[in-house]
Amino acid sequence: MLKGITIAIDGPAAAGKSTIAKKIAQKLQYTYIDTGAMYRALTYKAIQSGIDMDSDEALADLLVNTEILLIPDNGGQAVHVDGVDCSNEIRSQEVTAAVSKVAAHSTVRKMMVDKQRKLAYGTGVVMDGRDIGTEVLPDADLKIFMTASVDERAERRFQENEKRGIHSSLDRLKEEIEKRDRADSEREVSPLKKAEDAILVDTTSMSIDEVVDKVIKLAEERMEQ
Ligand code: DC
Repeated sequence: MLKGITIAIDGPAAAGKSTIAKKIAQKLQYTYIDTGAMYRALTYKAIQSGIDMDSDEALADLLVNTEILLIPDNGGQAVHVDGVDCSNEIRSQEVTAAVSKVAAHSTVRKMMVDKQRKLAYGTGVVMDGRDIGTEVLPDADLKIFMTASVDERAERRFQENEKRGIHSSLDRLKEEIEKRDRADSEREVSPLKKAEDAILVDTTSMSIDEVVDKVIKLAEERMEQ
């Protein structure tokens, strides 16, 4: 029996992290943890409750009083906020536009990192986000930094939206992705950056299956060590 390892996948918005992470977790029968969904869930609740998104304290207070559950669902993950399935709501334009602001606060991040470490404890895990290899799981067995060109990421998000019946403008998506990349990379607390020991995977001209195969191969090498 091969040991369960911890796999950290970081990278900019819409680089395909969650699609790939989900498939890898499914293949290895590991726990999948989408940390972006946790920041989105808090942002959603803050919008619903009219909380000031510039206030770290108010958001931290809100987080203490919010139950966020990631529930395995059909090879994916449903996100329940206070017992209600909000998987679609947390992907709305409104939440997407505000989430980087919420995720920039230090107390909020500290609390989220605690939760994420607890979720990963003692199990084979694939966790994706922005600071997993640098902050949440600095001792992860395998760290991947996944990127793709902005054009490619916007095109993928466009196609994903079309499939969900949401019509969007490619130029607008590109602008939003660039804006979020900037906010996530330039923030003071745990900015998005490649961990020194992370393996860079540029998925621009790769298919989903090619990326999954590559990461699984790397994971298998780590399991044997
Ligand atoms: O992966 P995503 O697009 O669902 O993430 C939403 C936002 O949450 C992203 O813009 C930055 C933030 N985030 C973060 O700061 N740290 C993480 N570990 C995951 C996401």
